[in-house]
Amino acid sequence: MCGIIGYKGTENAPEVIFNGLKRLEYRGYDSWGMATANGSGLDIVKQEGELEPSKTTEESNIGIGHNRWATHGKVSKTNAHPHVSCDNRFAVVHNGIIENWKELKEELNGHEYVSGTDSEVIVHFIEEKTGTETVEEAIRDFLNSAKGSFAVGLLDSKEKNLFAFKRGSPLALGVDGEGIFFGSDIYAFSGYTNESLFLEDNEYVVIENGGFVLKDVSGKRIQRKTRKFEWKEEEIDQKEFDHHMIKEIKSIPRTIQKLRTSLHSEQRESLKELKNLIQEHEKVIFTASGTSYHASLLGVFLLQKAGVEAQTLIASEFENYERADENTLVVAVSQSGETKDVLDAIEHSKGKGATIASIVNVPHSSIERKSTVSVRVKAGQEICVAATKTFANQVALFLELARETGIDLKTSELAEKISETIEKNEGKAKKLAKELKDKKDIYIIGRGPAYPVAREIALKLKEIAYIHAEGMMGGELKHGTLALIEEGTPVISLIPENSSEIESNVKEVEARGANSIRIASSGDFEVPECTPEEFTFLATVIGFLLTYYTAKEKGLPVDKPRNLAKSVTVR
Ligand code: M6R
Repeated sequence: MCGIIGYKGTENAPEVIFNGLKRLEYRGYDSWGMATANGSGLDIVKQEGELEPSKTTEESNIGIGHNRWATHGKVSKTNAHPHVSCDNRFAVVHNGIIENWKELKEELNGHEYVSGTDSEVIVHFIEEKTGTETVEEAIRDFLNSAKGSFAVGLLDSKEKNLFAFKRGSPLALGVDGEGIFFGSDIYAFSGYTNESLFLEDNEYVVIENGGFVLKDVSGKRIQRKTRKFEWKEEEIDQKEFDHHMIKEIKSIPRTIQKLRTSLHSEQRESLKELKNLIQEHEKVIFTASGTSYHASLLGVFLLQKAGVEAQTLIASEFENYERADENTLVVAVSQSGETKDVLDAIEHSKGKGATIASIVNVPHSSIERKSTVSVRVKAGQEICVAATKTFANQVALFLELARETGIDLKTSELAEKISETIEKNEGKAKKLAKELKDKKDIYIIGRGPAYPVAREIALKLKEIAYIHAEGMMGGELKHGTLALIEEGTPVISLIPENSSEIESNVKEVEARGANSIRIASSGDFEVPECTPEEFTFLATVIGFLLTYYTAKEKGLPVDKPRNLAKSVTVR
């Protein structure tokens, strides 16, 4: 969480930084800030809430910026980054958590702290050490002393230089003929250049005199070539739609087609390699968080059908349950490719000798770079914090993977059926949203492949519509949850064709007076004739539409729900 950016070059830095922060906004939107260097020292701007173009610093050609997702210290202007040294020479932006900030603070002498953040200690550390050391030595000292995860940008207003260093949090460098950028990911500067390289842990970069030098913690120069990345950026302003979420839901038929084309062309080899790795390993464990976890549940369901013994574990609990060894394949599933819990699960498994593969959306992400084989879901940039089109593409990728392992799945008209489902049900979703908006609890039930979809719809209702929701296996109702069903309680049932088992669960809730909402071939929401696998997509888009219109009806900030961020880079 949190996004950082830095720039030194011939362009106007406040503008470059502001544009980068806009693109990084999905990483945190509690507050933002920037620091630039002018003739007399630092120029600082900090704001709570939304980015405002009129509030940037004065013209300059060097600066750093930050979008905050609060961890240590409440949301406030004072806690917004950049943080500044007592002598006003240095400014720092930070993504991550400095675990030993208290100990570091105690070791420093006579500094005035103004914020309640862990990050502020970094700038005072650099300030104190540069009393006797060079800035580079101070950075190396910090890398040797700090515990935790960090990607830090440092502006030295005296020498007009930029530095960036990292451990555990992502940091990319962007290069064009006119300037050098750093950022939490390639989006930070993708509007300016597509030439980039990624820093590894315990490395730092010095940006000065129109160039950059990459070094390791001992100060040794590292030679690493920049690479061109291909990444079509989405419009940051979603002109013809009210929100990114609805734009992204409606793009699902197109993004699925794009993925399929790539799996039959440039991604053909990596899909085959992934299939081979799955078949060669004794144990296959998927790991993921949130929506990606729900996609992996579907993946496991499909692979089990194909005779592959696979399981999936929530990444944050991975270490508590798994028994990975050198005969294990761990497949990480992640939209951002930067989720800390997933990265920790990968590191842990690598330590045990496991092979790592991944399924990601953001190209060149940390998870992709740590994998032996990685297949991209090719959904393009997703701006709404809620994952919608990327979930659909993750599931579509699992379908292709299962097909590759030999099972016969009929989904050739999937994209058309999704479009038809959206067209037929959008009006109904708008209408029902008016009723659901005042509800406190909603239950969603499904069986087999519809069960992960039930969980996914529930997650969306919580995240975007702020309604408590529970997605569960229909058969589990009678073991407890049925006690909560009373007159008018909304229960959304996912009913694929010929599924008598879920029908009896629907009867159970209807007998208790539930407000029964059916997603079926004939029901409150209607899907076209389809296979059970296709049904998972059709029920998903209906659930997404319903969530979107309920949140909209409530007047909520659909694309940026409270307390959340798209890329979760803390444990
Ligand atoms: O980037 P990842 O797929 O690893 O992210 C995992 C979760 O944080 C993410 O899916 C989250 O649950 C979404 N905001 C849900 O819409």
